[in-house]
Amino acid sequence: MGAPPVSIDLLVAGASELATAEGIRSRGGAELGKITVLQNGALAIHGERILAVGPERELRAAYAPARLLDARGGTIVPGFVDAHTHPVFAGTREEEFELRTRGQTYLEIAQSGGGILSSVRGVRAAGHEELLGLVLLRLARFLELGTTTLEAKSGYGLSLADELKSLEVLAEAGRRQPVEIVPTFLGAHEVPPEFRGRKADYVELLVDEMLPKVAERRLAEYCDAFTEAHTFDLADTRRVFERARELGLGLRLHADQLSAQGGAELAAELGAASADHLEFVGAGGIAALARAGVVPVLCPLVPLYLRQEREAPARRLIEAGLAPALSTDFNPGSCYLQSLPEVLSWAALRYRMSAAECLTAATLNAACSLGRGHEIGTLEPGKRADVVVLDQPNHKHLVYELGRNPVRAVIVRGRVEVERGSTPSALGSQSALSSP
Ligand code: NIG
Ligand code: FE
Repeated sequence: MGAPPVSIDLLVAGASELATAEGIRSRGGAELGKITVLQNGALAIHGERILAVGPERELRAAYAPARLLDARGGTIVPGFVDAHTHPVFAGTREEEFELRTRGQTYLEIAQSGGGILSSVRGVRAAGHEELLGLVLLRLARFLELGTTTLEAKSGYGLSLADELKSLEVLAEAGRRQPVEIVPTFLGAHEVPPEFRGRKADYVELLVDEMLPKVAERRLAEYCDAFTEAHTFDLADTRRVFERARELGLGLRLHADQLSAQGGAELAAELGAASADHLEFVGAGGIAALARAGVVPVLCPLVPLYLRQEREAPARRLIEAGLAPALSTDFNPGSCYLQSLPEVLSWAALRYRMSAAECLTAATLNAACSLGRGHEIGTLEPGKRADVVVLDQPNHKHLVYELGRNPVRAVIVRGRVEVERGSTPSALGSQSALSSP
């Protein structure tokens, strides 16, 4: 006879598979695709933490759960971590989308007063409550799509008051709902209209007033910048980042997105946590990122959305040993999409990443880029119980199936926050329909 079962809060069982990366450090190169796949794997949760991961038979014998969550033949994976989003905006930009389908470029639209500046007008006109309502709605959608931790940038305020308003909205949204928010100050997103032709004065304002206030009020963990020919050059970015670093903020950079600017090299030199986009990164930039251990955060939908031909050299980054994260870049201009499952499909198709590589990138590596690899990103005892149950029979379906939300349940900090009971099991219904 074994020991009597231990009382726990929650057992997730009935899965056909449990799939997870392992460890607390980001995984690159050949390690990226090495995940653990347990057939009929189950998960024991107590309080906010994962207590045990193992074969269902063993866990059912060892634990007496207060609640059982039936995965119904689905797949258990870690909660998704989206390491790059811009969710604090008011108003949308569908006209620009249409202009691009008719041949205008992102840059042309930006230079004629649209783009980021059109969202700046929206945020400046919106009050705190209105913005908060919009952000909460977006967070509810992220959660339904399986995102349990979200990096979220300001950057559509571009004045002290409007950037503080954006970051305060994020702080309050973080307290009001379960998705964990990691706030980033992106005051260096674009030169605001009142500083047109006086970019140096705006950089002064960022360095002398905005950054110190943001840091003093602990409203951001990271500082970001959009380094491009039409926004901030390398010297501007260096000034902003050196000040941010002095004030204790981590660094993430929109690097080499629309043109080769040397952003990757700068991110590596300054010890940034991440270098994001990287469509135009060259061999020198890749080597620098690899030497410095910077996480490349790739956004595979963005070039498609911008109708830009150049894509990030994902396989070359991986071959250089780098540990990429995958992200939506959710924003009203260059990617109005919140679904990480959709992003993973596109990463598989465009970057030729395996399902296992995609899973690691959107969980463990993204968590590590946010300084949270010890806490989230894998399903292992001791980590926070942030868990997604997919209504798909194995993790390969996560990239194989497009266009439908495959999330059946979401657990955050040990609490079941989403449960979509009515969705029929994908494997049951689909295989019944397709078998002869
Ligand atoms: O990541 N590159 C700068 N920022 C966003 C676009 C922001 C916008 O167009 O509103 C991006 O693509
Ligand atoms: Fe972005």
